[in-house]
Amino acid sequence: MEIYNNIRLSKEDSEHLYIQLYKSIKELILGGKLMEGDRLPPVRKMAKMMEVNNVTIVKAYEILEKEALVYKRIGSGTYIAHQIKGDDPEGIEEETHQAINKHRLLDQGQIKIEENTINFASATPSAELFPVDDFKQVLNDVLDRDKGNAFGYQEGQGYYPLREILGSYVKEYGINVDAENIQVISGAQQGIDLVSKALLNYGDYVIIEGPSYTGAIAAFQSRGARIIDIPLEYDGLNLEILEKKIQSNRPKLLYIMPNFQNPTGVSYTREKKEKLLEICKNYGVYIMEDDYLSELNYYHDDTSTLKSIDKENIVIYVKSFSKIFMPGLRLGFLVIPNNLHGRLLMAKHTTDISTSGLLQRALELYLKKGIWQQHLRYMEGKYKERFEKMISCIEAYMPSEVEYILPRGGVNFWFKLPSNCSSQQLYELAVNENIVFAPGNLFHLNNFHDEYFRLSIAAVSPPEIEVGMRQLCKIMEEYINKYKSSVVRASTIKPIL
Ligand SMILES: Cc1ncc(COP(=O)(O)O)c(C=O)c1O
Repeated sequence: MEIYNNIRLSKEDSEHLYIQLYKSIKELILGGKLMEGDRLPPVRKMAKMMEVNNVTIVKAYEILEKEALVYKRIGSGTYIAHQIKGDDPEGIEEETHQAINKHRLLDQGQIKIEENTINFASATPSAELFPVDDFKQVLNDVLDRDKGNAFGYQEGQGYYPLREILGSYVKEYGINVDAENIQVISGAQQGIDLVSKALLNYGDYVIIEGPSYTGAIAAFQSRGARIIDIPLEYDGLNLEILEKKIQSNRPKLLYIMPNFQNPTGVSYTREKKEKLLEICKNYGVYIMEDDYLSELNYYHDDTSTLKSIDKENIVIYVKSFSKIFMPGLRLGFLVIPNNLHGRLLMAKHTTDISTSGLLQRALELYLKKGIWQQHLRYMEGKYKERFEKMISCIEAYMPSEVEYILPRGGVNFWFKLPSNCSSQQLYELAVNENIVFAPGNLFHLNNFHDEYFRLSIAAVSPPEIEVGMRQLCKIMEEYINKYKSSVVRASTIKPIL
C-alpha cells in the first residue's frame, strides 16, 4: 500500500477529487509502478487512506475501467489490465492513437497515396492551387518592413493589425465585431481544441451533429467530454431531438457546421438557424460554429453564419482558411463572446503562447493588399468547375441504389449505400483500382454507419473526377449487385439497433 502514500488529493484544487485520484493512479500504471494483475485497494480501504468518501473512489475506478486501464472481477476486486506497449508518452493506447491518426490523416488530405491515385478522400485543396508567388512577395515585404520584429513573440490574442483586418473581413459576412473580440489561432483545429480546453471539464456533455468532423470529435474526447450526436437532416439538426437531449443532459456546448457541413454538405435553413439559437439561448448552451468554407457558395444562397444572427452572444465562431487558402499556414481565428476572453487567452497561452508572428504579419499584408479577394474568386471558380463536373458525373454514373442529397456549395458529397453494404469493403475494392475516398464510419461516434461514405472534390481536377467517378461507380455497381445475391450473409452481421 506504500505505493499510494505519495498520492496527494487537494480539496483546494479546482479539479474534482475523483479526477485527481484517477490521474494519479493512471500515472502509476503508465509509469510501470502498478503492473498487470496488481489489485487496487478495495473502495473502502482506499477511501480511508485518501481521506475521501467512497463515491470518490468508485468514480475514479470507473474512469480507469472505461479507459481499459483496469478491469473488475466480480466478487474479487479491481485489477490492473494488460497495457499495450509503445513509446507513447501520453499513454494513449496504440489502437486509439492509430484510430485518431487514421481519422485525421484522411480528413486533412494527408492520406498516403501513390502518384496516380485519384483522391476523393481529401477535403483539402491540392498544392497547385496555392498562391505561392503572391505569398512569397508579402513574406519578403514583411521582412523588409519589420525585420527582426517579425520573429518575436506576438501578443497572445494575435497581431493587432491582423485582428483589425479580420474584423473588417467578417463584417462583410454580417458579423459585427472589432479586434477585441478576435483571437488568432494556429488553424481551426487549434480553435476547437482551445474552446474545449477553456470550457469543458471531464464528464461534461457536448452535442454534435451525427455525422461530424472527426478532428472535433477527437478534441472533445481528449477533454474527457461525453459526446451525444443528433441526427442531421437535409436542412440541419433535428431540433426536437436536440431540445430533448439538452433538457436531459444539460450540455455545455453544441458544435455545428451550419453551412456545407463536413462530411454531408448539408446547409441549415435560415429558419432552423434561428430556432437553434433560440433553443440554445433558453437553456444556456454555447454554440461553437465551425465555418470552414461558407465562402464556397456557388449559387449565392443565404449562407448567413449563426454568428451574424446571434443577438445573445452565445456563438463562438471558428474560422479556418485551410479549404480556401493554404492549410499548412496554420492560421485561423475565433470570434468569442466577451465573458470567455480570459479563459481562451489562457488556453492559448498554455498551448503555444502565440501564433507565428511572421505568418500573421504576412496574412495581414495579403489581406490589406486586396490579393485575398482575387484569390478567393480564383478558388471559387476552380472549385465550382469541379463541383459541377462532380454533379454531372453523379447524375450520369451513380448506381440507382445509392442515395444522396446534392449540396449547393462546398467540397463534400455524402452518399448512402444500400443498407447491407459496407463502405469499408467498397473502399478496399476502390483502393485496388487506385481510387480513395472517406468511409462514413470515420465521421460517426460508433461503427454502426458503415453504409455511408464521403467524396470530396478539393484535391481532384475535372478530368480526374470524370475518370475516377466512372470507375468508382462501376466498382460500386458490381459490389452492390454481388451483395444483392448474398443478402442473408450480409444481414446477419448488421447490429440490431
Ligand atoms: C470542419 C472542419 N473544421 C476544422 C478543420 C481544421 O481546419 P484547420 O486546418 O484550419 O485546422 C477541418 C479540416 O479538415 C474541417 O474539415
